[in-house]
Amino acid sequence: MFREILFDIEQFAATTTDLAAVQRFTVDAIATRLPHYDWVGFYMLVPEDRTMLVLGPFHGAPTDHVRIPVAQGICGAAVAQGETIVVDDVAADPRYLSCSIETRSEIVVPIRVHGEIVGEIDIDSHTPAAFGAKDRSFVEECAAVVGNFLEAAS
Ligand code: SME
Repeated sequence: MFREILFDIEQFAATTTDLAAVQRFTVDAIATRLPHYDWVGFYMLVPEDRTMLVLGPFHGAPTDHVRIPVAQGICGAAVAQGETIVVDDVAADPRYLSCSIETRSEIVVPIRVHGEIVGEIDIDSHTPAAFGAKDRSFVEECAAVVGNFLEAAS
């Protein structure tokens, strides 16, 4: 299923120059086809203020965390550290900002354009430790597709 979803996102990205459309397609494809991926969304750095992330297209319950400073949350930490963060048990991570009381685990993957982080994909699961090595590779490949899309557009 990972291969098929990635293929579909790549195919869609080749048909448009609209970032938001690619993001919407991506969150919908992931969240509707992978049962344990309960909330899927983009947070993007504000170009004029790279200390702030702003919520982009998402699939799942609305969240209060529309703006997240890079100094806060697991979302902020992924940008600050410049790497993927997987949290198997959000209740045990003091950085965690709660979006839903049902969330048990989370993965956040930075999106890079010419090596510079521009945003991230954030995924929550109601299942503990839902994101293993294969999930991590898959989400990192999704982030690379969006990064490549933005590079081609820049
Ligand atoms: N859990 C994230 C906040 C975003 S919501 O999950 C949608 C965090 O700790 O940064």
